[in-house]
Amino acid sequence: MTENKVIRLIQKLTSSIFENSINQVEAVKSIDEIFTHFQQITEISGYDHKIEHMAAIPAAKGKALGLNFAAQCLLDYNRTIKFLKAVVSVITEKQKKQPGKLIKIFYAGCGPFAPFITLIAPLFKPEEVQFSLLEINKNSVASAKKLIHSLNLSNHLKDFYTADAVTFKVPGAHSFDILISETLDAVLYRECYVPILFNLLPQFNKNIILIPENVLINLSFLTASKEELNAEEYEVGTILNVRESIAANSNTNLIPSQLPDKKIDLTSLNMNTYEKFVLDTKVHIHDTIWLSRNESSLTLPLEHKLTQPFKNNAFVFTYFMEPEMELKFRLE
Ligand SMILES: C[S@@+](CC[C@H](N)C(=O)[O-])C[C@H]1O[C@@H](n2cnc3c(N)ncnc32)[C@H](O)[C@@H]1O
Repeated sequence: MTENKVIRLIQKLTSSIFENSINQVEAVKSIDEIFTHFQQITEISGYDHKIEHMAAIPAAKGKALGLNFAAQCLLDYNRTIKFLKAVVSVITEKQKKQPGKLIKIFYAGCGPFAPFITLIAPLFKPEEVQFSLLEINKNSVASAKKLIHSLNLSNHLKDFYTADAVTFKVPGAHSFDILISETLDAVLYRECYVPILFNLLPQFNKNIILIPENVLINLSFLTASKEELNAEEYEVGTILNVRESIAANSNTNLIPSQLPDKKIDLTSLNMNTYEKFVLDTKVHIHDTIWLSRNESSLTLPLEHKLTQPFKNNAFVFTYFMEPEMELKFRLE
């Protein structure tokens, strides 16, 4: 297949997603086909055993996903489809508000296939939308550059930085309209989304559109395993709201080593009726577009057994950014 045919395949997929004429089976087939072409063009399979393609890369805080896993993200179908839809929606909303204005996107953490330029740019002219990319992994940068060039998208690319988004100072930050950074995993474990936002958000205009716009971690209690029909779930609520946490720290330029404790009082609950607690990652991509429980690898729930008889009065959750990115809990 020639590159022009790949571009047409991309246009067909992205248009069907955007026009809501998407058929899930067809979309999965198109994404698989696009993945195969990207593998051929970049010579990155996403599954080889080279240690440098498997290893995570340490950032100033947290770790960047290894190149193979970053490539495989494209195949996280619901995630990819919803993010594509969000990015195209935001671009067209901006175009409606300010017709003729060049829309500038800063894409932090593009991976080897850079899908939020390679699958989006073919829908727009370079005079309409321009991308600046940043990626910590030099092999991903080389791969994404090759792909962008092969797909004739070089005119959409303004800058490409090989750098750590946790510390990078963005040249001309105020000129950007949209910031994309899908640099997270379920329960915000290990990857850099939170410190990246701590570093990047204050550099941009207040009204920058961030994709995903927020991540919440919610707590609930279960009477039995989720798979069991009679299991009952009690939703306690949000124990971590990333954007609120960042706004609460806006008086300092330093990225804190941990976020403030979140204490959940359990004294009004009959904790002996619950078998487990569950932590859900809810990814608010844009507007009404969310990724919820089990829709994607980013939103796999984390279950923990409760030790009975339960004798504690509170759960205390703390999100640490040092020495590792990790949500920890203790009982009081
Ligand atoms: C989850 S992958 C997503 C790749 C691609 N954007 C996609 O959606 O398929 C995250 C990418 O962000 C990069 N990344 C993670 N942390 C980073 C950091 N601190 N600075 C720059 N890039 C980072 C990783 O190397 C990886 O390529």
